[in-house]
Amino acid sequence: MPNRITSFDEYKREYQRSVENPEAFWAAKADAFQWKQKWDKVLEWNFTEPDVKWFLNGKLNITENCLDRHLKDKGDQQAIIWEPNNPDEKFRTLTYKELHAEVCRFANVLKNNGAKKGDRICIYMPMVPELAIAVLACARIGAIHSVVFGGFSFQSLADRIHDASCSLVITADGGFRGAKDIALKSIVDEALLQCDSVKKVIVLKRTNTAVIMKPDRDLWWHDEIQKVNDDCAAEVMDSEDELFILYTSGSTGKPKGVVHSSGGYMVYTAYTFENVFQYNQGDVYWCTADIGWVTGHSYLVYGPLLCGATTLMFEGIPTFPDAGRFWNVIDKHKVNIFYTAPTAIRSLEAMGLDFVKPYKLNSLRVLGTVGEPINEEAWQWYHKNIGKEKCPIVDTWWQTETGGIMISPLAGITKTKPSFATLPLPGIQPVLVDEKGNEIVGNNVEGRLCIKFPWPAIIRTTYGNHQRCFENYFSQFKNLYFTGDGCRRDEDGYYRITGRVDDVIKVSGHLLGTAEIENAINEHPDIVESAVVGFPHDIKGWGIYAFVIPEHQRSDTDQLKKEIIETVSKYMGAIAKPDKIQIVKGLPKTRSGKIMRRILRKIAEGEMSNLGDTSTLLDPSVVEEIKTGAIK
Ligand code: PRX
Repeated sequence: MPNRITSFDEYKREYQRSVENPEAFWAAKADAFQWKQKWDKVLEWNFTEPDVKWFLNGKLNITENCLDRHLKDKGDQQAIIWEPNNPDEKFRTLTYKELHAEVCRFANVLKNNGAKKGDRICIYMPMVPELAIAVLACARIGAIHSVVFGGFSFQSLADRIHDASCSLVITADGGFRGAKDIALKSIVDEALLQCDSVKKVIVLKRTNTAVIMKPDRDLWWHDEIQKVNDDCAAEVMDSEDELFILYTSGSTGKPKGVVHSSGGYMVYTAYTFENVFQYNQGDVYWCTADIGWVTGHSYLVYGPLLCGATTLMFEGIPTFPDAGRFWNVIDKHKVNIFYTAPTAIRSLEAMGLDFVKPYKLNSLRVLGTVGEPINEEAWQWYHKNIGKEKCPIVDTWWQTETGGIMISPLAGITKTKPSFATLPLPGIQPVLVDEKGNEIVGNNVEGRLCIKFPWPAIIRTTYGNHQRCFENYFSQFKNLYFTGDGCRRDEDGYYRITGRVDDVIKVSGHLLGTAEIENAINEHPDIVESAVVGFPHDIKGWGIYAFVIPEHQRSDTDQLKKEIIETVSKYMGAIAKPDKIQIVKGLPKTRSGKIMRRILRKIAEGEMSNLGDTSTLLDPSVVEEIKTGAIK
């Protein structure tokens, strides 16, 4: 493979080249793809608006690069191996030829139903091959996909459909997750009561759950697919045409639609996939993330398919039917590369080694983690019991907004260090700054992590509101992209991400805005105000601690707490349910009315004695009351 780094010396040379002449560096990488028209300029950028464009005037379609390009040599190779939730159900495989045909057919279904280039299409589906097919079919016709994780509630779904004015929704009757069956179509129905933009809903039959099909709007996938053939020319896309929107939480109450473009995203996800995981042709690669998150977009669908890989897709959860399921699937499909989240590792570690022992795990060559810092203990457990001390672990740091992996070891090439994401990939120029934005140079330092030069998969805008993109990422520090993460650079120049420095919490690897959770809690009619902070949690990384003020005293506090949890599930989804709820009479506020979260964070972390300066509080006595009632 032309873009493959094979030694640490080569990594250093490549890195040097990428910094000295980024344009030439990325042009060489982009040359490996199929372009309908070559770009006439590699890069134009400023971080002040921001305005970043890669491979200007280049024309392409990412699905031709994921599929058509491989048909000649790899048509019969497995593109997707799908492992169902229930191990008794037969697994499915799709070769590149079959996947290509399915994508073209479904692309024709979309066209038959009025979809065209530039339309926004919402996908709310379980982890079945048709989800990947739907994503690629959108890209085939140039429609912008907005995948919403199947665990989000009707309200979160409605907000996302509404924000992007989606004209079409692709869903399923239901989805299996462990012992549960989630009625996706009825959640869509409820969401659509608030969304006028949606003209058609295409429904895949998966669980045989009873659904109500609205005439003129709702169509069955299996009926529509009968009406088309598998011939569908790929739409010509400009490099900078939008490929997808993916919503992510921020410091404000409203999620942001992160927009990625076609050309740069393609080049960057393929390059990073191949190099970080050191993918060898024929390897079976498994990323456990749901396609509803960016990891699923970049490293389950696009990156692997762009590289002609075999990508495994899993419908279920790590603990069903028991906590050995991951290891069972690895042996069953002879997985060589396994990429998962620290939360999953910690929860499986807690279940004990009896669930690991029955499995050989001898196909594994490379392990990876993503989504949150991995603590040293979990790293060692993963290394010893899963990797049998033979598999390098790539701790990959990146974000929805970065599109692809930014700081990470290259498997087997970069010397790893537990809990360090190690070194930047070629093309990535990280800097640490202090609160005022002054660069902190040298090693053995800590600061806020920023990136000072664009890379091809950088966020282009936040959908429908470019100013928000500027304010969120480019306004804090002049001419820098600010990640929102704290970070340490050690004596070897290795990077270790220490966690978020803004008002979002990473719960089980999912990014949740505290303001968003507060908004959901406040939907409860008896709650007048709430404040949410994180607290360290052994398995989830961070847990959710909610301080709530009820309108009037209720004697049934347990019932009230239960209702609050139900309200959050209803308005956001089960992933945002508070772990601890403390009912309080007041919140610590400054004279100007701002909640002093710093104090609440300390209390949630159990650090009662060292609350810092409380002299600016309007009513310091509330702190005493909160301290007394704090939940351990
Ligand atoms: O705080 C960092 C954490 O996850 C954030 C990005 O979350 P999201 O956009 O949901 O994307 C997650 C999947 C790429 C980051 O700002 N994070 C991600 N990877 C790591 C990490 N923290 C520490 N180590 C990592 N490897």
